[in-house]
Amino acid sequence: MNTAGIYIHIPFCKTKCNYCDFYSITDREDDADLYISALCKEISRSSLEDYPWLFDTLFIGGGTPSLLTGRKIEKIFTALSHKISLSNFIEKTIEINPGEASLENLTDFKNLGINRVSMGVQSLDSNLLQFLSRSHSVKDVFSTYENVRKIGFENVNCDLIYSIPGQTKEIWKRDLETIIDLNPEHISAYILTVEKGTELFQMVKSNMVTMPKNSESADFFNFTQNQLNNSGFFPYEISNFCKPKKECLHNLHYWKIDPYIGFGPSAHSFDGTCRWNNAGSLDHYIQKINGKHSPISKAETLTEIQQVNEKIGFGLRLSGGIELITIPELFKDQLLENVKRNNKKWSGFIKHNNGRIYLNQKGYAFADAIAVDLLL
Ligand SMILES: C[S@@+](CC[C@H](N)C(=O)[O-])C[C@H]1O[C@@H](n2cnc3c(N)ncnc32)[C@H](O)[C@@H]1O
Ligand code: SF4
Repeated sequence: MNTAGIYIHIPFCKTKCNYCDFYSITDREDDADLYISALCKEISRSSLEDYPWLFDTLFIGGGTPSLLTGRKIEKIFTALSHKISLSNFIEKTIEINPGEASLENLTDFKNLGINRVSMGVQSLDSNLLQFLSRSHSVKDVFSTYENVRKIGFENVNCDLIYSIPGQTKEIWKRDLETIIDLNPEHISAYILTVEKGTELFQMVKSNMVTMPKNSESADFFNFTQNQLNNSGFFPYEISNFCKPKKECLHNLHYWKIDPYIGFGPSAHSFDGTCRWNNAGSLDHYIQKINGKHSPISKAETLTEIQQVNEKIGFGLRLSGGIELITIPELFKDQLLENVKRNNKKWSGFIKHNNGRIYLNQKGYAFADAIAVDLLL
């Protein structure tokens, strides 16, 4: 049976970070009960039990899910349990923010069976945290990490951001080494991207802030790959590194174009052909649910070619590459032809072995550009 993931979106945050374009809102935690009740209604009205897949991963993301009490998370679990068997989840992740995950909440999450914690560290430099308008301190990172371990979580991810204006290679090296010393099972390291509609976007547009040049970002990227690789973290995806067998199974569902069903405002879903997403506003979402309307605001059906192109785009970012067995026969020859045609242009970065098309380490830095050349 094919496997699939479930995503639950928790939109509440203490403060809005200037670079973030995920759907999140501040000063609305008082509405958390109202929200959880709507979320549970959405789950109970869904067709989760009818899908022909085994739901094996759950990801509670945000926003800042660690602001919610265990009681609220338990309500979500109960709603899910009326639809599917929770015992099939092999990975249950919750996102937490440093300083915004109380010992009590973390203990409750562990008791509820959550077995993976993803902490948004971003930086260990107080000036850079301030630049990113993060609400936590460097000290919060260490104390929250210590609590997570004390409670007994054995699968922990730290999210980091690099190529930040004002960040030197020395600062990044120091931060990366400190995180490596903490010994998490997984590290996600993302280049800071300037998303339209964010405060950072306005700051860059008005020349208040200058982003690092592409060549500097490429330098940071190569340094990050080498540093983590040499420290026992396997780069299984272009921005994701893990200890043996500690890949994020939920994110692998996204990257392998497996099905996933999302709940909550702005949550996306994909059933193998159709992709849809919910309204991206808490009030709109609650209104829709309470009015017994569908919260879906947009849906599209992917053609077979679009699906193959997604497999190419995401597959090239994975160390395992594109699995040719997952490409319909009709398109395989064209894809292999595109590989052949572009091999010289990309100096042998593209490999074809054991039924997979993948990039070597040098090619990783050009994954997106190479994907454009291989698309059907
Ligand atoms: C949307 S946040 C949610 C989790 C949590 N609230 C937090 O702040 O860590 C998930 C992750 O996305 C990454 N992220 C969000 N916006 C980004 C951006 N513009 N550039 C790079 N990474 C970003 C951050 O590393 C963050 O940890
Ligand atoms: S980065 Fe995280 S804490 Fe900051 S606004 Fe986005 S979701 Fe909230």
